[in-house]
Amino acid sequence: MRDYYIAGNWKMHKTRAEAAELARSLAGQLKDGKHRYLVAPSFTLIETVAAVVKGTNIRLGAQNAASEEQGAHTGEVSVLQLKDLGVETVILGHSERRHTYKEDDALINRKVRLALRHGFEVILCVGELLEEREAGRAEAVCEAQTVKGLEGVAAADLGRVVIAYEPVWAIGTGKTATPEDADAIHAYIRGVIGKLYGPDAAGRIIIQYGGSVKPENAAQLMAKENIDGALVGGAALKTETFVPIAKFS
Ligand code: PGA
Repeated sequence: MRDYYIAGNWKMHKTRAEAAELARSLAGQLKDGKHRYLVAPSFTLIETVAAVVKGTNIRLGAQNAASEEQGAHTGEVSVLQLKDLGVETVILGHSERRHTYKEDDALINRKVRLALRHGFEVILCVGELLEEREAGRAEAVCEAQTVKGLEGVAAADLGRVVIAYEPVWAIGTGKTATPEDADAIHAYIRGVIGKLYGPDAAGRIIIQYGGSVKPENAAQLMAKENIDGALVGGAALKTETFVPIAKFS
């Protein structure tokens, strides 16, 4: 059985004091939570949040990482630096990285392999644009992003890979994919993993849904066979909205 895994992507929000307060409040309210949890604050907040979540059931994540270990890469943050802060998980290929900052599949793949090589868990985000969905290409886009993102990833490392299906048109828009539509893509992605790594790996891989997940829709989404958790943006910024998602029933 796959464990549910609920992650909060705080994006470019909060100061250190605000981040510490949110992390403290989440740690208190989720300590009896039954699922796996993660928060991914901005780089500048990581050390502050690390001190709060240490020893709790909340994992520490980062929202991105460089594709190189170190060197002349102005403005980038390395997996070595993230490891030094206690980060265990990196979110890679988020749609905002793909579309606003023009990261392509080859770059994302280099990041995925580097992070795995350094022992991180990777949340690899995939998802189609509205025009791609309307053109009937949602599955093909998610397949290509999954295959290219995982190129060269050994089966032995796949246990540290989580896929997040995030339809771009549902992110931050208040529009959520219906549980049925999301589940269909999740099943398709699971099939892609099956083709690449075999049926056992496909059965084990955690596939989160992301895109306007809120307390009102979390349980219906998570009830679907192939939806194993959520990657939450806006609703992750407040205890009142994240905790009900994290403790959905
Ligand atoms: P949202 O963001 O929940 O605000 O739609 C999700 C994400 O981008 O990970």
